Amino acid sequence: MAEELILDTTLTKAEKYRQLLPQIEALTTGEPDLVANLANTAAALRQAFGFFWVGFYLVKNDELVLGPFQGPIACTRIRKGKGVCGSSWAQAQTLLVPDVEQFPGHIACSSESKSEIVVPILKDGQVVAVLDVDSDQLNDFDQDDQAALEQLMEQAASWF
Ligand code: SME
Repeated sequence: MAEELILDTTLTKAEKYRQLLPQIEALTTGEPDLVANLANTAAALRQAFGFFWVGFYLVKNDELVLGPFQGPIACTRIRKGKGVCGSSWAQAQTLLVPDVEQFPGHIACSSESKSEIVVPILKDGQVVAVLDVDSDQLNDFDQDDQAALEQLMEQAASWF
């Protein structure tokens, strides 16, 4: 496909996800390179929604290691159970954090990050990576984000 996203800014957030997800699927289908697919996914999400930070942490040697992302520089390694990302990994479930200050052990890569959603990618029942999306607004994520990003990460599992 052409390397250009179609993004209708008049749509609701849920509709934007419905417009975006098939485009990410088209962009990644047939591409076997994991880094290329993660990189374009992070870029597409940031381009569509203007999130403060969007990126992936990959499970490597029992740690999360920073992968492709869009946004300011970030923490490189996160241990299992630490921060929102490490907790999402340990619990193998999505964590939606309306106010990062209220999350015990939150890792502040940037003081500008105010709310966050982390979605694990499961391959054969094991977490292989997490998607982390940060906003500079409080309470910026809801069930629409969770449902769409979980659907997207089910698709992403096939890249591993
Ligand atoms: N806030 C995350 C760390 C990653 S950065 O936000 C990019 C956490 O608590 O795990």
